[in-house]
Amino acid sequence: MPQTLFVNAAQIVTCAGPGRARRGAEIRDAGVRTGYAALIEGDHIVAVAPQDELERTHPRAERVDCRGGVLMPGLVDSHTHGIFGKPRHEEQELRASGMGYMEIAKQGGGIHSSVRDLRTRSEDELFSLALPRLRRLAAHGTTTVELKSGYGLSVEAEMKSLRVIRRLQDALPIRIVPTFLGAHEIPLEFRAAPRHRNEYIDLIVHEMLPLVEAEGLARFADIFCEPGVYTVDEARRILSAARAHGLLIKLHADELEPGGAAELAAEIGATSADHLAAISDRGIAALAASATVATLLPGTMLFLGRQKQAPARALLEAGAAIALATDFNPGTSPTVNFPLMLTLAVSQLKLSVAEAIVAATVNGAAALGLAAETGQIAPGYAADLALFEIEDIRELPYWYGDHRCVASWSRGRACHQAS
Ligand code: NIG
Ligand code: FE
Repeated sequence: MPQTLFVNAAQIVTCAGPGRARRGAEIRDAGVRTGYAALIEGDHIVAVAPQDELERTHPRAERVDCRGGVLMPGLVDSHTHGIFGKPRHEEQELRASGMGYMEIAKQGGGIHSSVRDLRTRSEDELFSLALPRLRRLAAHGTTTVELKSGYGLSVEAEMKSLRVIRRLQDALPIRIVPTFLGAHEIPLEFRAAPRHRNEYIDLIVHEMLPLVEAEGLARFADIFCEPGVYTVDEARRILSAARAHGLLIKLHADELEPGGAAELAAEIGATSADHLAAISDRGIAALAASATVATLLPGTMLFLGRQKQAPARALLEAGAAIALATDFNPGTSPTVNFPLMLTLAVSQLKLSVAEAIVAATVNGAAALGLAAETGQIAPGYAADLALFEIEDIRELPYWYGDHRCVASWSRGRACHQAS
């Protein structure tokens, strides 16, 4: 088995520790090592130790020169909606002129506009659109990405989206985790008589979920549980059915208004509850007492022009585990720049750099049920690595909006190499 030694890093940020989500007070540091090297064999990490020692014991290993940069676990983006057609730049100006996100949706824009567009596109077209977008995402240091369907909202268009995700898994070296989000909205044709929203929910439960299971097209099911979209009771029904079809659970919870979605996430044992900008105190207590990861998406609130961010410190102080993600999507967060989320995590959510780094690696992996596989530079973990052109990890959130990733590897295979 070929061995490779990563040498001459100014720092190796290991994030090493237990292979599970890390909660509030547990996070003291991100495991910053100087003078260390990392040894990989095939697709996994075998040792992290002082460089002189590893050079002595492994003289024949191939070498990757980190040239004084910072080597860290590849970033884990546990929440994206990367399968879509056209961008929705027109909505940005509408919001700037005072129109709300939900108001735009009520008039047939927002998610509905992406749905109309995606339904007209072929699988090949969607694949060709997603490929360069995901390459850009990987170029910022992300080596694991969750991808949701959710702009189809019909049996055919949801399956089409999930099949595109499957093709991307084969076409790209990064790890891709597929999520079925047939409950992203109630499609317009089921919002008005003669049809009823319950008929669409029946379609999800009786047609889509069995197909998703039969073709093995998703690992997670997700839902937009929010006043005006799906109610808590509807979410409970859909997610229980999803679980019966072998899927793990995620929720878009309390994104814009508090509605008890975080409490539901804890109650049903969801792997993660995401957004949470409007979570209630009861929701915070429920998540802290559960194993559900609180996934925060600060780019979304920034891009929507909202003043409010999720109460990250209150969640941490209550003892919850926090992950960070981009929410990459055409409506509320058209960014592929994960390091920019680290900036927002520190400046807006008031996380320490160590808390933000753990949230973007170990806890992102936990939000995908992958905490024993990726998110750490530690023996036995996948060789998922990102190399940044900085001398100190604190520079990653500091040079905000910049592009410092020079190379990344997923399971030992090169994902990105700066030209
Ligand atoms: O995570 N909130 C629901 N879904 C996305 C936005 C989808 C869209 O506007 O296209 C989100 O913010
Ligand atoms: Fe989202």
